[in-house]
Amino acid sequence: MILRAAKGLTFDDVLLAPRRSPVSSRGVVDTSTQLTPTIRLHIPIVSANMDTVTEAEMAIAMARHGGIGIIHRFMLVEQQAQQVRRVKRAEGFMVEHPYAIGPDASLAEARALMKRREVGGLVVIDAGGDLAGLITQRDLLLAPDALLRVHEVMTPRSRLITAPLGVTPAQAQALLFQHRLEKLPVLDAAGKLAGLITAQDLMKPEQFPHATKDDRGRLRVGAAIGVTPADRSRAEALLEAGADLLVLDIAHGHADHCLQMLQALRRDFPQAQIVAGNVATRAGAHDLAEAGADAIKVGIGPGSICTTRVVTGFGVPQLTAIIDSVAGVQDSGRDIPIIADGGIKTSGDLVKALAAGASTVMIGSLFAGCEESPGVPVIRDGQKVKVVRGMASLGAAMARRAAETLEQESAESQGEWDKVVPEGVEAVVPYRGQVHEILQQLVGGLRSGLSYGGAFTLPELWENAEFIEITPAGVRESRHHDVQKM
Ligand code: XMP
Repeated sequence: MILRAAKGLTFDDVLLAPRRSPVSSRGVVDTSTQLTPTIRLHIPIVSANMDTVTEAEMAIAMARHGGIGIIHRFMLVEQQAQQVRRVKRAEGFMVEHPYAIGPDASLAEARALMKRREVGGLVVIDAGGDLAGLITQRDLLLAPDALLRVHEVMTPRSRLITAPLGVTPAQAQALLFQHRLEKLPVLDAAGKLAGLITAQDLMKPEQFPHATKDDRGRLRVGAAIGVTPADRSRAEALLEAGADLLVLDIAHGHADHCLQMLQALRRDFPQAQIVAGNVATRAGAHDLAEAGADAIKVGIGPGSICTTRVVTGFGVPQLTAIIDSVAGVQDSGRDIPIIADGGIKTSGDLVKALAAGASTVMIGSLFAGCEESPGVPVIRDGQKVKVVRGMASLGAAMARRAAETLEQESAESQGEWDKVVPEGVEAVVPYRGQVHEILQQLVGGLRSGLSYGGAFTLPELWENAEFIEITPAGVRESRHHDVQKM
């Protein structure tokens, strides 16, 4: 038995001491960082691979704003691969599912739909699901009779200029200009509608200049896998679908079977970027680094919905876990980033996690209330909320089993639930609107933090950071106090 003399510390136990700073404005600091040795992010934020946090919609929003999302693994392989494909296909300049109307709809219906959707045109799709034509506001403008049918005034397919799937923005722009068009339907190899490019979208100044993109201009996305033999083929399917990185993610990542799986993946997919975790010790980080991880995910029990520490008695306060893991990676002689996973409640926590040596942070619950997270908001006690659940909670375990078997629970397996020992809880969080609003607050806080730390970049923050352990009085003083919050 060993009793460590040093205390384990977490975010609320410390503050960073301000330093003399050459940073004259928050605008001049650089928040970019490495997620893995080959993947760079404009902002150091990753959305968690939890089934109430990251599927395609969240991953698209995260990548557009310079971070990245990791698609959770609690669904069938083909479903997860499909989620990855959705992110990879979400090119900004093409609308993938343009608003459509049938050829026999009335012009009044077409007008109403365009008004409701605030668009200037609709694709016309026939009963067989094929593109029949295109109708725009200009077609409607001079139509003599509101009772006319769409097919009578639309531009029929035979006269439409279309582009093949894969057309580049420059080629689309040239076609639109050459034919003086505003809209360009895109067809796949089978002649089916694959999307719509509009002049307006093309001409818009780049809306997401810092998006996280691959070398083909597609948004980047990660996908989680587990350690069972079946996860080998899951990994293959996800890489095939275009996943930019795999996250080998189990609750106790410093386990022989995790290290063996990592080595096997490294051997089978030498080109893939592979993140592994979770660990919380110097030895854990060292061993994953040595086994070939491209980044290490750190955090045992700091998450808002985690009960691992209560249930098992194991865990390391997160700030200490990050600092120790950085040392473990250094011991291995490799230069790979740390992802601080869990426990981020404020932008201050984000700054502290990074100052401790992490290159990125992974966030779950703070994003679970966003519009882009899976699930819909519900009203509880008059407040709009969304659900979040730990991936080791009973609810998540049951959903996982249901997805795996895809059939009704048998009486026998119902009985097995008694034996499940959850290490997470299910909860609700306030609905928080779109994720970019939260990102803006987090990144704003980080920019300020860098200026207090006299740092233009994250490596300079690592260099400069000086933590002070504080007392409960210090914690109290750090929050608003002796006033009534409006
Ligand atoms: P936050 O605090 O951002 O943490 O919500 C997200 C991280 O929590 C971990 N996680 C769990 N840990 N039991 C645990 O002990 C669970 O059921 C559980 N579910 C998620 C995970 O690392 C996630 O990224």
